[in-house]
Amino acid sequence: MPKKEKGTIKVSNINDEKSHKHPFHTKLCDLLNIEYPIIQGALGGGVSGADLTAAVSNAGGLGVLAAWGLSMDKLRVAIRQTRDLTSKPFALNIMPVNRPFTQSRTELAIEEGIEIVTTGRGDPRAPIIKLLKSHGIKVLGVVPTVRHALRLEAEGVDALVASGCEAGGHVGKVSTMPLIPQVVDAVKIPVVAAGGIMDARGFLAALALGACGVQMGTRFMAAEESAALPEEKQRIVEAGEEDTVVTEIFTGKPVRVISSPRLNSLLKAMKDGLSPEETRARILELRKKKKTQEPGYNSVTSGQGAGLIHEILPAGEIVRQIITEAQTLYKRLDPWA
Ligand SMILES: Cc1cc2nc3c(=O)[nH]c(=O)nc-3n(C[C@H](O)[C@H](O)[C@H](O)COP(=O)(O)O)c2cc1C
Repeated sequence: MPKKEKGTIKVSNINDEKSHKHPFHTKLCDLLNIEYPIIQGALGGGVSGADLTAAVSNAGGLGVLAAWGLSMDKLRVAIRQTRDLTSKPFALNIMPVNRPFTQSRTELAIEEGIEIVTTGRGDPRAPIIKLLKSHGIKVLGVVPTVRHALRLEAEGVDALVASGCEAGGHVGKVSTMPLIPQVVDAVKIPVVAAGGIMDARGFLAALALGACGVQMGTRFMAAEESAALPEEKQRIVEAGEEDTVVTEIFTGKPVRVISSPRLNSLLKAMKDGLSPEETRARILELRKKKKTQEPGYNSVTSGQGAGLIHEILPAGEIVRQIITEAQTLYKRLDPWA
């Protein structure tokens, strides 16, 4: 662990007035060749498919196609569909769930000429990063701690997405506010903030913490172009900040979801000593019915920031709103403006 440099605050992301670049043009924009430092987090199970990915990229952010949940054939089709819908850069997310999955999707990314890969929960491993980089592919690794950040930096990723435990999907234990500056202080490569960022306030806060951009999942899940079910988007719009729980029952790793009555009662029963057989049976039932709209069963993968989402908007509008409102808000933060 490098010695901490106390008192050195690394915040250099906002361009001064003399710069001809957009005020939120950061080094992430240069690295990825995008206009605004906003990444749409991968949404597995086909939720961030070609439509959402292309819409975010067309709006000047970085759209990310998720590999998880798609067969090789379907993923190849989705990559080609995305290319038909945008000429702007987009990324492929390869969540390193197991070695065969990571290897096969990496080979597909190379075959299809993908330019940017993001990873997710887990270690993509140094040989995979080296292989991607040897084909000129930029790699962004998602990390939940400083320890993971240092490992991925040493393995050669171009940038990191530090993701706090407020996030939707797989989560660690540290929340965004303390995580981002600690990762920023520990590494030399660009750091993107994720977890709980839904609007211009979160965007500016992330830049103030030293991040050079944001990755947003839940906000884009509730976008018009996302392939989430209309009922799932509605649950996000209706959810408040206390409505999510973190549970390992779906994937064996901690995942944040908007809870359901059945999930709540199972978690309580497990705490009260439910037998292993009964626990297993009820977990299987819940996993099977997670995506169904059967009342009582429908947990929706989502972050705590769902409480900040009040409407379903086109993805491009979400990007534009954040950038426009952040400019107004930034001026308001300056007491001399
Ligand atoms: C429905 C859903 C599915 C997700 N699937 C993936 C995935 O396949 N791969 C991945 O790396 N991250 C995945 N994530 C995490 C997001 O990419 C993103 O990092 C996270 O949502 C950021 O936190 P936020 O939801 O507070 O914006 C998923 C998140 C959600 C809500």
